[in-house]
Amino acid sequence: MQTTPTDTQTTQDVVDLLRAQHARIRDLFDEALHSDGQDRENSFKELVRLLAIHETAEEEIVHPTVRKIPGGDGIVEDRLTEERQAKERLSELEDMGTGDPRFLKALDALRLDVLTHARAEERYEFDRLREQFSPQQLKGFAAAVRAAEKTAPTHPHPGVESASKNMLAGPFAAVTDRVRDMIHKARGDS
Ligand SMILES: [Fe+2]
Ligand SMILES: [Fe+2]
Repeated sequence: MQTTPTDTQTTQDVVDLLRAQHARIRDLFDEALHSDGQDRENSFKELVRLLAIHETAEEEIVHPTVRKIPGGDGIVEDRLTEERQAKERLSELEDMGTGDPRFLKALDALRLDVLTHARAEERYEFDRLREQFSPQQLKGFAAAVRAAEKTAPTHPHPGVESASKNMLAGPFAAVTDRVRDMIHKARGDS
């Protein structure tokens, strides 16, 4: 075994990388739930950033692939519904802020949604990628996602943060654009 499931730096294959991100997302939920003050704020920000990167990678790589298989459209529509709901909840949490008395309950509800969603992806979608792409292509996608993760902004622009009521239009969008560009390059799109 050259890699561990949570080792996102050295994982070579995009399926392994997405699984490792699921594990990291689960850990960040736990960290945010079981800390307070600045620690909670930091864990939550990292969680939002990782979710933005991860879901964009899935929208670009995983879902279009699964649509090609018989019955795939239904599977993808279910996942997209879950992702939309999670993004709405995430946006509400961002507006609330980590100090809000309702924050923990809302974060816990989002955690349940996201982990259920991740299990469904692992069960119904991820193996399809290995049927559709060569090991080389899967490595290329992993490299693109990792590169995007490295260069994506770590902190929302302060002006955007205070001015925006909806992070999906601000920092979240900046991260997703970056990930999209790098995946398009890996796929050979112009
Ligand atoms: Fe997803
Ligand atoms: Fe996922």
